[in-house]
Amino acid sequence: MKAEDFIQAAEALDARAGTIIDAATSRADLEVARNQLLGRKSGEFTALMKLLPGLDPDDRRQAGAAVNRLKEAIETRLQLRLDTFAPAVATSNVDLTMPARTSWKGGRHPVTVVIEEIEDIFRELGFTIALGPEAETEWYNFGALNFPSDHPAMDMHDTLYLSDDVLLRTHTSPVQIRTLQNYPPPVRILAPGNVYRRDFFDASHAPMFAQIEGLSVDEGISFVDLKATLTQFANRFFGKTRTRFRPSFFPFTEPSAEMDVECQLCHGSGCAGCKNTGWMEILGSGMVHPKVLEATGVDSEKYTGWAFGMGPGRIAMLRYGIPDIRLLYDSDMRFLEQLAQ
Ligand code: PHE
Repeated sequence: MKAEDFIQAAEALDARAGTIIDAATSRADLEVARNQLLGRKSGEFTALMKLLPGLDPDDRRQAGAAVNRLKEAIETRLQLRLDTFAPAVATSNVDLTMPARTSWKGGRHPVTVVIEEIEDIFRELGFTIALGPEAETEWYNFGALNFPSDHPAMDMHDTLYLSDDVLLRTHTSPVQIRTLQNYPPPVRILAPGNVYRRDFFDASHAPMFAQIEGLSVDEGISFVDLKATLTQFANRFFGKTRTRFRPSFFPFTEPSAEMDVECQLCHGSGCAGCKNTGWMEILGSGMVHPKVLEATGVDSEKYTGWAFGMGPGRIAMLRYGIPDIRLLYDSDMRFLEQLAQ
């Protein structure tokens, strides 16, 4: 075979390809045409290619160039014809202008948000998260914490007893005892968890609520550490804010102090939320009582420490201006979704 004959065959195929492609009336037709022309096994182009090796080397070069042009021409033609058919999806009944369905976005409960933020701040300050049981013995909940045996908190009216000696913890302070019993100072822990009190469920009380305990015990720890750390915390959590410490009393700390922050609703000018004081109480704190250290076998001559307890539910109420504590436990999605993060 000569180059001219080959090129003639190529031109014939080019013409036939034009006819076949133009005759196609759908994407499916075009697929058939593509197969007939370029199909690897029985395509006409493939058949033409098979003739190439039979040509003289010089003719082959010429024929090779023609065959390349032919392939490109067929592919371009197929594509151009394909473009004239609208994409498959548009031929169906789908309405492309319909707004997309938004996916459900889950959220964390506002109290969880507050707990996690507080954990993050204290973790950066070197505190490790610790947990303790919610069912405690009287000794862990009261005795080791230096409560006198006639303290009113131990009364049946205030505490939920499971048996004579076992109760639902009324605060997270027993985690101080369990930690100090098991791990020698230096200790820095943050202990979040639920606590229980025999309270009516009203706008400002719940029989179960979350607390976060903090404890730092080491050599040379003083009230300065307490004040500096808690002030730093308040500024991180609330943004730059004023704080004040008021003398208070807890059997397991001496001296003891409540910490207030500037009212987050009125910024100090006085409103119903802060009962016109301009301040909001956020936590109780104090220097760990030597009796607590001794009850856990820690040398109170060598070590000192400070502790605090706060209620993240109350803090969430202050922060988001939630007027009724029951909203935190009703699990009404219409309310929770407004605050969910
Ligand atoms: N446990 C105390 C309470 O529930 C809070 C507290 C913890 C106070 C640690 C001082 C130190 O009210």
